[in-house]
Amino acid sequence: MKTVSKRLLSLAIAMIIAITAAVPSFAVNDITWEALWATEYNNGVILFPGKDETEMNVSWYHSEYSEPKVIVSKSITFSDAKTFTGDCIETYDGDFANRATITGLEKGERYYYQCISGDFESNVYSFETDENPDEFSALYMTDIHVSYDKKDTEGINEELVRTAGLFNDITKEALLKNDDISIILSTGDQASEGLESEYKAFSSALAVKSIPVATTIGNHDRKGVAYKTFGNKPNEQKNATVSSYIGGNYWFTRGDVLFLVVDSNNASGIDHRKFVKEAVKANPDAKWKVMMAHHDLYSGRLPHRESENALLRILWAPIADEFGIDLVLLGHSHYYTVTNVLYNQKSVQPYSETMTDPEGTIYMVSGSISRPRDDDDIGLNDEWIGAWNTPDDRQIYNVLDFTEDSITVSSYYKGENDAFNKYTIVKTDKDGGHPDKISPLYNPIIRFIGTIYGFFNNIGVYDDLINKYGFDVDFFEIVF
Ligand SMILES: [Fe+2]
Ligand SMILES: [Fe+2]
Repeated sequence: MKTVSKRLLSLAIAMIIAITAAVPSFAVNDITWEALWATEYNNGVILFPGKDETEMNVSWYHSEYSEPKVIVSKSITFSDAKTFTGDCIETYDGDFANRATITGLEKGERYYYQCISGDFESNVYSFETDENPDEFSALYMTDIHVSYDKKDTEGINEELVRTAGLFNDITKEALLKNDDISIILSTGDQASEGLESEYKAFSSALAVKSIPVATTIGNHDRKGVAYKTFGNKPNEQKNATVSSYIGGNYWFTRGDVLFLVVDSNNASGIDHRKFVKEAVKANPDAKWKVMMAHHDLYSGRLPHRESENALLRILWAPIADEFGIDLVLLGHSHYYTVTNVLYNQKSVQPYSETMTDPEGTIYMVSGSISRPRDDDDIGLNDEWIGAWNTPDDRQIYNVLDFTEDSITVSSYYKGENDAFNKYTIVKTDKDGGHPDKISPLYNPIIRFIGTIYGFFNNIGVYDDLINKYGFDVDFFEIVF
């Protein structure tokens, strides 16, 4: 049973979190990472985007099964509060993942919320909706690599605290300097081992209580099984014939931007094309199409990465061409690159500060947060790459400013005020310069072969999880 002093402490921390979320500048001095960790780690409350700007998805962990509830109000006193119920599923670690969706959100409002399941009552958090859903800023980063040190079995895992702390710090800095940010885009390898402890640590960061995070499955997220029950992804693809057992594709919109979040661990071209086609058809008015995937496709640095990327390009480039994707955000290489405008795997327009009505797609990779790379032996293909950076082990974050006519991408080193790289994509109408013809890369046979490969790859993954990692997993769930 909670004591009176514990209740008072909980209330005090709840008030601090509510205030810090409402006034970001308050956060820096008044709540430490250690204090956040102490109250947030076990339950890992995190926001994900809802299907559009009128919804917000919430998720958290708890040790017991119960119907999850989120209480939401425009007032911090929770007058006129609404309650949203959700579902609860058991995780592979024996915890329960709770998920609920807040609906009916209005523009330009601040909402306070609290998560409740069984005897758990979260702190009070808050988030704000955009005044104009077509004009907002996104924080894009990749390869955060929150890492559990398997050799450190005594007490608190220090590497877990340290690496999640890096994510907390960089998101805090980005939000303080850019108060228009209302979504975080993370393109994979959120975790290094794919463990539930790593996703709880990721979710302990202050930013994810007030700004939704769209996560993408990376190859490291697929090392474990916890990503399957982590978070609360909207519009997940349900009709895949061969999916990656813990990942999957999902989409959401913000104003006139369609975000397509795809699983590049899965080679099933049939399923990916079907997913993108259906998402595009469901959003005929979307002016901008932004895809998020993990593997870097065009910035391969090491020889073995280039052979992997060559295969992945065969799979993904035709889909980007066919559906007129404007921007593809990637990760995996930990190496900052922006391509020229590409179509049919060729440069059709050079990278420049402003690219108006590009006749193809721009692919971008950012650096890693806890594993930044400094390597001169970059091995980039000049035919494709328009901008790159050797960060000397510094961390990078990017701010994407969306307007009705443009996307401006500004890339920053942590700790610096001026962007080290900045470019703008302008579209003068809905289709911009995307070619209105079938891409020369369009090839149903390759998509079919990818799907067969995906099936056999899943058998290999099943074997790995059983023999190498010792997870108790279901064959049919993984392979099909
Ligand atoms: Fe990575
Ligand atoms: Fe990766």
